[in-house]
Amino acid sequence: MKPKVFIARPIPQEAIDIVAERCDYRIWDKKEPIPRDLLLAQLADADGLVTFGGRVDREMLAHAPRLKVVSNISVGYNNFDLPEMKRRKVLGTHTPHVLDDTVADMVIALMLAAARRITELDAMVKAGQWQKGADFDLYGVDVHHATLGIIGMGRIGEAVAKRARFGFSMDVLYTNRRRRPDAEQAVGATFVSLPELLRRADFIVVLVPLTEETYHLIGEAQFAAMKDSAIFVNVSRGKTVDEEALYRALSSGAIRAAGLDVFEREPVAPDNPLLRLKNVVTVPHIGSATAKTRLEMAKAAARSVVAGVHGERPLYVVPELQELL
Ligand code: DGY
Repeated sequence: MKPKVFIARPIPQEAIDIVAERCDYRIWDKKEPIPRDLLLAQLADADGLVTFGGRVDREMLAHAPRLKVVSNISVGYNNFDLPEMKRRKVLGTHTPHVLDDTVADMVIALMLAAARRITELDAMVKAGQWQKGADFDLYGVDVHHATLGIIGMGRIGEAVAKRARFGFSMDVLYTNRRRRPDAEQAVGATFVSLPELLRRADFIVVLVPLTEETYHLIGEAQFAAMKDSAIFVNVSRGKTVDEEALYRALSSGAIRAAGLDVFEREPVAPDNPLLRLKNVVTVPHIGSATAKTRLEMAKAAARSVVAGVHGERPLYVVPELQELL
């Protein structure tokens, strides 16, 4: 009998075919998220689950007695209850590498959009408010030759640093749990403490995973330490930043602007005050969302779930669960 896999959201046929070749599968193929009770019911006999960041918690795992592997179609895995997965010997996998360049492109896009006020001015032009005359009040700031501070120098950080250094002649500072001499060598980045980075950088990008240690890593004190001309970009997870402190910093002029791919609550509430600010550029958590990259992510997740349910070694088990291998 083939192992059973539940795929909890629509994925491309190519990725489904990878699962179908060696497993029986069922798929939730509707656009809206699968209701929790239906998901729990589907897990009763599942050996593997493919999910896109859905909560994998104690209750869910209790409904999945046969589960061997949860395969996330994302690089972040803050949706995993790691201690409980470890206790139940359920592997968790993610999809690093394939999205690095795509997410790095989005970081640069948000930096440029916030610095040159692209969305604000786009709205102005489309509203028919472009008038001839002095245009001082439409000026932005330069990205090129400015100083970039990267908080979290993993693979995506390095891809951002490369673009910044070689594409925009920026000075690149970074802070990270451990120093990265290889990245320093490759992209000429300089390792500094977080306070020094906040004090010196013109652009500050958060790229850390969300963990207990990084929850609200950037808050009131960190915004206060930034230059009042600083542009802040978050493409990691919303909860790494204290959003109320960010709102106060942006609305009081303590920093200049922000580019946000992620929010503390997603989808963002329509009445979130950040959405009313002209100096905020937003996108709906689409850092990795190009068709090509999402296909590669889905294929990687499909390969991992197939390996996991067959007792083979999936390529990208998250570090905290590698001891289960
Ligand atoms: C990731 O891969 O973690 C992206 O943020 C998409 O969820």
